[in-house]
Amino acid sequence: MQVKNIALLIGTRPEAIKLMPVMRALKQAGLKVDIFVTGQHRELLEPILTELDIEVTENLNLMQADQTLTDLSAGVLKGMKEILQRHETDLLMVQGDTTSAAMAALACFYENIRVAHVEAGLRTYSRRNPFPEEMNRKLIGCLADIHFPPTVPALENLLKESVDAESIHMVGNTVIDTLFYARDHLVKKLGPNPDIDRAIKQGRKIVLVTGHRRESFGDDLASICEGLREIAEAFADTVEIVYPVHLNPNVQSGVRPALSSVPNIRLIEPLSYLRFVEVMLRSTLIITDSGGVQEEAAALGVPVLITRRTCERLEAVEAGVSQLVGPDAGKIFSSAHELLTDEAAYGKRAKSTSVFGDGRAAERIVDILLKS
Ligand code: UD1
Ligand code: UDP
Repeated sequence: MQVKNIALLIGTRPEAIKLMPVMRALKQAGLKVDIFVTGQHRELLEPILTELDIEVTENLNLMQADQTLTDLSAGVLKGMKEILQRHETDLLMVQGDTTSAAMAALACFYENIRVAHVEAGLRTYSRRNPFPEEMNRKLIGCLADIHFPPTVPALENLLKESVDAESIHMVGNTVIDTLFYARDHLVKKLGPNPDIDRAIKQGRKIVLVTGHRRESFGDDLASICEGLREIAEAFADTVEIVYPVHLNPNVQSGVRPALSSVPNIRLIEPLSYLRFVEVMLRSTLIITDSGGVQEEAAALGVPVLITRRTCERLEAVEAGVSQLVGPDAGKIFSSAHELLTDEAAYGKRAKSTSVFGDGRAAERIVDILLKS
């Protein structure tokens, strides 16, 4: 391989989770790797860096309360230029579709540094849905030199957009590498989880919820909360809804006043990654708008209701594990009701699938980099 100084770019929680196996595989191949953190996230990111043993080389510490996309973008562009120059980086790997990833890729373009894009090619082709991620990933698609789509549909999107076929390598999604590593090696070392243990002992089913998409703030988030309240009321004695509420103030102000008085909805702080994996493993149903959680749940065979209007991860919907219900209270309730009462319908949906990957994506990425 021609590159000497490889770096990985992490801005938010999911980027740390999804780049950890690439870091490990690079180190296993004997390569030095720098970890550059923008600090777009702080509290959500720090425990995960520790849990997954990610040693940070540089941290821009950019998080501000309720930060605007413009200020964040400007901070990443400026801060990354200095870091890239200081470390003489010659390949930066970015992941996914955050503003950190997009602006770091742009900084590389300006500085004439190669970019590899992990989780390339996801699209809804709806400009503002998800916002701003659809535009971020399209921008990275234009800027990157090497593209690692996780699945065939993502690869086909890149080809449709005339990306050079030789620069595209389908590898699977690295989220599955991390998930399997966590499940098989780390989760079993956790201590007890008294709240979940108690609920399950009482015969309650766990319904795990997450949500944070900007395009849902306001009416759509209120409607999602209404659907959750209806589920909680209909299954007051048999279901416990566990909802780690994202720290974005727009999520907190939409969710807490709407749901904090419902007895069988537990609004909690975001969980560490390993705890979250443990709770996913023990959940009957997951209701989410998260990209990563959809992928993980499909691998674990936990049925998912996706509370979004559009979705770039239809592989799990086609495999029958996930269902796109939108931010629609009625549909969220009726779909959850069916899965919680009809064993046959549930059995058809609760199937693990490898549509997003087999747990060896990072290994493939590093093999390809070494040969390029
Ligand atoms: C970001 C990404 C989104 C990704 C999500 C993963 C963008 C534009 N959005 O959304 O693509 O799916 O992360 O979670 O890149 N906050 C804290 N502590 C934290 C993190 C956030 O307090 O550790 C609060 C701050 O007030 C911050 C706000 O949440 O200003 C929004 O954070 P931001 O990273 O801009 O957006 P997310 O909604 O987290
Ligand atoms: N996650 C976590 N703790 C939580 C909720 C989620 O560690 O309380 C993990 C989850 O396992 C997944 C990732 O965070 O790997 C998803 O991040 P998020 O939903 O914030 O972003 P997205 O995937 O939508 O970009």
